[in-house]
Parts: sequence; C-alpha cells; structure tokens
Amino acid sequence: MGEASSASPRGCAGQGLPLMIKKQYNLPDLFYLDLWPFSVSLCIATHPAYSNQFLTERSMPKHPVLGEALSTISGGDDMLSSDGPQWKVWRSAFNPGFSVAHLMTMVPTIVDNVATFAQILHNHAVNNELFRMEHHATRLTIDIIGKIVLDDDFNSQLVEHPLVTAFENQVRWMKILPVISKPLQVFNVFRPFVQWWNLRQMDTYVGKLLEERFATRSSRGKKKHVIDLALETYLKENNVSDTAKLDPKFKDAALRNIKVFIFAGHDTSSSTICYCHYQLSQHPAALTRLRKECENIFGKDASKTGDMIKADPYLLNKMRYGDAVVRETLRIFPPGNTVRAGAADFFITDPDTGERYPTDDWLLWSHNLGHMVNPDLWGDDVYSFRPERWLIESNSKGAANRDAFMAFAKGPRNCIGQELAMLETKMMLAMTIPQFDFHEAFSEVEKLKDDGSGYPSDLSGVQEQFGEKAYQIQLGTAKPREGMPCRLSLVSK
Ligand code: HEM
Repeated sequence: MGEASSASPRGCAGQGLPLMIKKQYNLPDLFYLDLWPFSVSLCIATHPAYSNQFLTERSMPKHPVLGEALSTISGGDDMLSSDGPQWKVWRSAFNPGFSVAHLMTMVPTIVDNVATFAQILHNHAVNNELFRMEHHATRLTIDIIGKIVLDDDFNSQLVEHPLVTAFENQVRWMKILPVISKPLQVFNVFRPFVQWWNLRQMDTYVGKLLEERFATRSSRGKKKHVIDLALETYLKENNVSDTAKLDPKFKDAALRNIKVFIFAGHDTSSSTICYCHYQLSQHPAALTRLRKECENIFGKDASKTGDMIKADPYLLNKMRYGDAVVRETLRIFPPGNTVRAGAADFFITDPDTGERYPTDDWLLWSHNLGHMVNPDLWGDDVYSFRPERWLIESNSKGAANRDAFMAFAKGPRNCIGQELAMLETKMMLAMTIPQFDFHEAFSEVEKLKDDGSGYPSDLSGVQEQFGEKAYQIQLGTAKPREGMPCRLSLVSK
C-alpha cells in the first residue's frame, strides 16, 4: 500500500491505487483489500464473472459511503444512493426523461449550448491562450443538464449563475479524499458552514422553480423535464386539488433528486469531453479518421454542422467512429464507479472452482477501470487508444468486450443518462473537432497558478500514473488532472 501510494501522484483518483496493488502482487480478478483504519474494507472485482453477481444477478444495495459523499450535494436519500421501493418509484418516474425519443426533441437546445462552447474555444484558439478545458466543459454540461432537468437556461458558459457557482463550489468541498489543492479542507472547521451555505443556495433556487412549476402546472402540456416528471408522479400518487400547496415532504424529496441529477449529469460528461480532445490529440490517425467521418456526414463547412443536426438529429447516429472514440475514451478514463454493500447471506462464487467468498461488512467495488484495462478481457493492447476495436464484430479477435464495458455500470442501477452523455459528447466532437487542434499544456500549468480554479498548478513530485501524464484526480468523480490545461489552434483549411 505504502509503495503504491508513494509511486502515485498527489491527489490521484482513488481507483488507481487498487490496480497498482493488484499488479504489484499479481492478484486475481476478485480480491480483498483491508485498509482499516484508513478506509472501509474493500472486496474488489475486475471481471464481470464476479461483478455481475452483485450488479445484475442480485442487485446489492448501494454502500453507505456513496450516500455519505452525495449528502453534501443532495442532502441524502436521493435516487443515486437509495435503494428498494423508494429508488424504484423515482427510476420509473424519470426513465421517460432520458429516452432516446425524448432526447431527440431536446437536440436543438443542446446544439445551441454546444455552439456557445465552440465559440469560446474559437476565441481561445484565435488568441493562443493557455486555459483549463475542464472549466468550460463543466459549464457546457451543466447548462445542458439544467435545461433537461429544470427547463431552465443557466447560460453559465457566458455569465455566472448562482446555482452553478454553488454546485462547483460544493463539489470542491465534497468529502471524497483526496481533495484537490487543499487536503486540509476535509478537516477544515469552515467546511460544515461552507457546505450548509452552498446547499442553501441550491435549495433556494431549485425550490423556487419547483413552486413555480407546481403553480403553473395546469397551463402546461405534458412535459418530460425531470422537474415535471417528479411533479407528475406526486400528482398521480396524491389526490391534489387545484388550490393545494406543494407538500413540503414531496418538495424535499424532489429537491434531493433534482440536485443529484444536476450533479451526475454534468460532473462525468465534462471529463469525458476533455479526455476525448486529449486522446485525439495524442492519436493523429484517429483524429484524421474522425474528421473525415464528420466531413462525410456534415460536409466541408463545419459552421453549418449545428444547423444540420438541428434539422436532422438522427445524423448523429451516423457517427460510428465518433461513437467508438467516446467509448474508447471512457474505457481508459472512466469517471465513475459502483460501490455496493455486502451481506451475511451473500457470497461471491468463483465460476471455475465453485469456491464461495463472504461479503458481510465488505464494500463490494465493481472496479470499472479494472474491468476495462483487464488484458484477459481486452487483449494485450489494453492501454492503447484504439477506437477501431468498437467497430469490429463482437467476439472477433481484437473486438471490444462489451460485457466488460463498465463505464456506465450494468444491471438495473446502470446510468440513466448514458444516452444523453453519448449524444452530447458526439455532438460536441462534430462541432469542434473539424475546427480546432488541441495541444495539452501540462508543462505550462504553473502559469495558471492562482487562477481561482482551486487546482494546485503543481509540477513537483510524481507527475504520471500508468505512464499517463493526464492521469485522473478525485474531484467529485474522477477528473483530468489540473483541469486539463491546453492551448488550441485553428485547423488550417
Ligand atoms: C460520460 C458520462 C457518464 C458516466 C461515465 C456515468 C456513469 C455512471 C455510473 C458508473 C453510474 C452508476 C453509479 C453507481 O452505481 O453508484 C451512473 C448512474 C447514474 N447516472 Fe450516470 N454517467 C454519465 C452521465 C450521466 C448523465 C448525463 C446523467 C444525467 C441525468 C447521469 C445520471 C445518472 C443517474 C441519475 C444515475 C443513478 C441511476 C440509478 O441508480 O438508477 N449520468 N452513471
């Protein structure tokens, strides 16, 4: 543990360490890691033969550590961390809001947000500026999820918005170690106050919208924004008169879920956007192929791509290589994980030997990255960025192992927003890749010190993990180190 820890960069994402230990001790695809008193005791699976047993065959309850971490965002008891009937009601209520058919109706508004993002990148490129891509990607994805969840235009890519500021700030104070530039924040005496203040800002803003939406419910047709789906469920289950006031208990539950949607809906997609640009910049053949695909679908004039997508959103489905690029990026840089609670009556069985492993009091970790860089499942080129593997017929040599693609998890608790994530990332690629060349700028990061981002801008100590300088840090979910410092240039025509 000490060895793996000292070979790791400061602040690196929690998912790296178990993999280093697994490699160092040549551990099998199911292993126990008892880090008491530093962590809860971990039972880690890096193969679907094991993880399927607690994700799909029996969906074990979420581990309390998740609820604890999310409580600073949602206030607890939200759809992401709760279980049983409570989770089921919300999941069924919200599913229609993330169906492909509904998302297609949201495409024009998503295009407008991506166009703003592209314009911001354009300005950076023209001025050859050094900047952190994560900031802009976060603002893009939070603006999109704001529209989808609340039917509200945050417009935070262009102006500051109180809800977005509160969210960004709260993620930086989340109780998932290690916290970026200020590890002492975890023990900071101001922490409870800051978190209380941010939560208050969020609740005031979202609560007001909820009240307004409730008051104007009869003047609106059937809508599928998360806020409306929550209200619809409430109205269906309760006999609510026209003059009734919003039940505070329902309001509280709706607030928790809306906040968790806003969090889950932006915090992961933003890193994926950064890593797609990074990976393509490191693999010029893939970049050329994707540009060719975009040109074939959308034509030579990239400025028209947004309008073409608005006119025919299904054009995005033609981006087969673009789809492969996003999946391959998520395979190597997955932002999320799945942690479940073991139980006295639940054992994980070795499919070859039949041996049964106890799980009571263990945190069951379906280690997403561990599945997706497992050479037994993907082949020896597991650390190579090779989108082509997604285009090969399943079960052929060199093909992606779709059963082991865990970026969105598996089973009934898989990601409800995965279609949205794929759609917005592909659209972002179609509208930016033909225009800009991305250049990572980790070596220049000290010039961004004290830019207000909270990132350390630190070039001391270990500077890579698994041979990768763009390693992931833990900031809410796993994010690109230093917020992905970069410069852009315009593609010469
Ligand atoms: C690249 C982007 C994304 C990745 C990699 C990702 C990954 C994941 C993963 C791994 C889980 C399972 C978490 C767990 O078991 O604790 C999950 C669940 C979830 N995700 Fe995503 N997600 C992404 C985007 C989104 C978006 C855009 C939304 C928007 C609504 C979203 C909403 C949710 C929700 C609400 C859950 C909980 C589902 C449930 O428990 O029924 N995610 N996601």
